[in-house]
Amino acid sequence: MSRRSHLARLRQQSPLILPSVLSCDYSDMRGEVQKLEAAGVQALHLDVMDGNFVPNLTYGMPIVAAFRKLTELPLDVHLMIENPGRYVRQFYEAGADIITIHEEAAGDETARILQEIKELGAGAGVAINPDIPVERVMPFLEIADLILIMSVNAGFGGQKFNPVALEKLEALRKAGPKDLLLEVDGGVNLETVQACTEAGADLLVIGSAIFNQSDYSAAIDELYRTAHVST
Ligand code: DX5
Ligand code: ZN
Repeated sequence: MSRRSHLARLRQQSPLILPSVLSCDYSDMRGEVQKLEAAGVQALHLDVMDGNFVPNLTYGMPIVAAFRKLTELPLDVHLMIENPGRYVRQFYEAGADIITIHEEAAGDETARILQEIKELGAGAGVAINPDIPVERVMPFLEIADLILIMSVNAGFGGQKFNPVALEKLEALRKAGPKDLLLEVDGGVNLETVQACTEAGADLLVIGSAIFNQSDYSAAIDELYRTAHVST
């Protein structure tokens, strides 16, 4: 079964919280994944950074492959790397279900790389940082499965939410096809999560607001209760 079949399920269940495992305990990945599964999470968000596109360095294919062995949850892989087209096949082979590239890094190659990701059989996403106008992703609304709106500058967990993301989500919700997944990433917590869902976000990537808590399940439940769209 194509990994692309996860997309419809994620859409159906949205809004969904995707833990960003950037801040998990890497000495106990198995335990961390078990706790997240027990908390009922539906997908994991993995942050790949190259120390070049962003001023931070995390991990590459081997860690994605390790998560693949530990869980059947869809893996949403956020590539914060230069020249992403060079690596999409390898991340697919490592087990990524959704692969998101940055428009700033892919430039003129963005559409071609999104197409390649889809042909491989994964969900294709395109991301922009807070200082990039939303117009830059408008050409990809039909070809991308997912648009990732960064609400902090890509690179580090624990930064403050930038509300410019909300206007972009609203604009994309209006302009994009119904089944386009909108994801928001950075500084999403109890103070900001409801504004994100109200602006139209389907996938809420959350790192420190989960991993800074001792009980992930309680943290996620509270975030869901707060995310509930009131209108
Ligand atoms: C930042 C990453 C995020 C990060 C989110 O560049 O893309 O996924 O882990 O962490 P918090 O929720 O702490 O902002
Ligand atoms: Zn991310």
